[in-house]
Amino acid sequence: MKAYQIHSDGGIDAIERVNLDGPKPKADEVLVRIRACSLNYRDLIVAQGGYSRNDTRPVIPLSDGAGEVVEVGEDVTEFKTGDRVAGCFFRDWVGGDPTEEQFQTALGGGIDGVLREYMTFKPHALVPVPQHLSFEEASTLPCAALTAWQALVVKGDIKAGHDILTLGTGGVSTFAIKFAAMHGARVIATSSSDEKLEQAKQLGATDIVNYRDNPEWHRNVRDLTDGRGVDNVVEVGGIGTLERSLKSAALNGHVSLIGVLSGTEGAVNPLLALFNRVTIHGIYVGSREMFHAMNRAIETSQLKPAIDRVFGFDEAPDAYRHLQSGSHVGKVVIAID
Ligand SMILES: NC(=O)c1ccc[n+]([C@@H]2O[C@H](COP(=O)([O-])OP(=O)(O)OC[C@H]3O[C@@H](n4cnc5c(N)ncnc54)[C@H](OP(=O)(O)O)[C@@H]3O)[C@@H](O)[C@H]2O)c1
Repeated sequence: MKAYQIHSDGGIDAIERVNLDGPKPKADEVLVRIRACSLNYRDLIVAQGGYSRNDTRPVIPLSDGAGEVVEVGEDVTEFKTGDRVAGCFFRDWVGGDPTEEQFQTALGGGIDGVLREYMTFKPHALVPVPQHLSFEEASTLPCAALTAWQALVVKGDIKAGHDILTLGTGGVSTFAIKFAAMHGARVIATSSSDEKLEQAKQLGATDIVNYRDNPEWHRNVRDLTDGRGVDNVVEVGGIGTLERSLKSAALNGHVSLIGVLSGTEGAVNPLLALFNRVTIHGIYVGSREMFHAMNRAIETSQLKPAIDRVFGFDEAPDAYRHLQSGSHVGKVVIAID
């Protein structure tokens, strides 16, 4: 079968096209033909060797894939041939609080990922995908969508009428905009670009702020909320944005610590959280249980992910470069014919 592998820490140029033996399912396994994969910012870091939790080499990259079941082992009862499924980001985090061992099972990092034609899974590492989504759309769910879901719904306790702040217009943030709109919340979206902000409005953002033109953007957020601040911040920026995110949060507000787009090293005044009684939650994707709950909501609301562009399998390195350019809004996808 055709696949890609990362053998060294050389970034996108070191991602190699390879031919591997097709896997055969054991009695308790499901064989999935992967039809589409999507990229996350993390995949750029994995290719550079910077995602150090437990990256292995060589590794088949990418955590997010969707496809169809083409064979099931004799002991499998949960899935059947023809089912449309996606793999879970953490193969073994089924539910409850995760263990360190479960965190070692992230696809496309600690263990092999989905950028290939066929892959075997234990049933506990798969979920059925919403029926109204294409494979390309379903492939965007395992990481970016589930992260935004855990941030807003599981930990953020989002309610109709809440004010939500999103940073930038990448994969996690565009899902956050859509989930917030789904819950009847108001979204203040930020971006580096007015053009992207117009797209954010189409996705469900109510108010927009260009953070390049307004470096003190927390003041805009305060103005837009009559001085109150927002109930939830979907914080993907890291050290360069965290202080302003905390200044944007309302009294008793919530900040989901998700990303580090602007880096990790630096100082933040802890009093900003303390005096406002802000709850800060570290978010790391989500469990299979959360994935199931999210898919029910996506199906009920007929939500469609925001896809920026779909690349062919042979164009996988171009897909990585497109993500790296930061010109996208939403998700970058690779289709596998
Ligand atoms: N903890 C988790 O479980 C988890 C899961 C998924 C992702 N993440 C992390 O979350 C972050 C976003 O991931 P992603 O996959 O959504 O990325 P992505 O799709 O590549 O989105 C990147 C976008 O973020 C915006 N951006 C870049 N630098 C920024 C800054 N300094 N301040 C505000 N916005 C900035 C830009 O949008 P504009 O041009 O519109 O500003 C850029 O296009 C990454 O750090 C990633 O590692 C964490």
